[in-house]
Amino acid sequence: MDNINREYIDSYIKNLIPDENEKLEVFRKECEERALPIIHKEVGQLIKLFINQVNAKSIIEVGTNVGYSSIFMSHVMNNQGKIVTMERSEKFYHEALKNIKSFGLEKNIDVHFGDAVEILDNIGGTFDIAFIDAAKSYYKTFFDKCCQKMKSGGIILSDNVLYQGMIATDDLVVRRKKTLVRNLRTYLEYISHDDRYITSVLPLGDGLAVTLIK
Ligand SMILES: C[S@@+](CC[C@H](N)C(=O)[O-])C[C@H]1O[C@@H](n2cnc3c(N)ncnc32)[C@H](O)[C@@H]1O
Repeated sequence: MDNINREYIDSYIKNLIPDENEKLEVFRKECEERALPIIHKEVGQLIKLFINQVNAKSIIEVGTNVGYSSIFMSHVMNNQGKIVTMERSEKFYHEALKNIKSFGLEKNIDVHFGDAVEILDNIGGTFDIAFIDAAKSYYKTFFDKCCQKMKSGGIILSDNVLYQGMIATDDLVVRRKKTLVRNLRTYLEYISHDDRYITSVLPLGDGLAVTLIK
């Protein structure tokens, strides 16, 4: 039972999405078999839409894991754009480097090892899209730091913002997630009510917030 969407809706939407790259599909299946926390397929499809809509050439990502989403986004940009991504787990960082190399994308994707809270202060350049997909309690910090690097009209996408439905109702909150839930609720209030941003929170995957920086 999915606490955000009914399963038949999720699987119907997923089945509408065409598989465009066989190697990427094999990589997705391997990640799913290992239960790695990669983007939901339908979230990937919306990211694809935004990349095309803003004609994105530069993306900053917080939370690389084994590199699936950065490789996916690089493909969407026809391997022409630049992605800067960061990962604090040494194991996943090395896996990401290996995977990115196997797709021949070393020149397109820069992976930084370490805590994004620190790395974000040392990244230069400006970006069309930011994708926040790491420690949920730090989303506001990640957002504020990414915001300073966005081009005008840039979009910040924040994944897992409904966190298995817990963010929307106390009935679902488990004790050990109370701090995370409080922080994500504060985050959603912030990006929804600050005049500098226009935010839409979508019940897609585990919840995706789309924020336009005015
Ligand atoms: C949900 S996964 C990212 C999945 C990836 N974006 C994808 O869809 O393929 C989150 C990753 O962020 C990393 N992470 C969490 N907090 C972080 C932080 N403060 N700095 C850097 N990486 C972090 C975790 O180790 C984990 O691998």
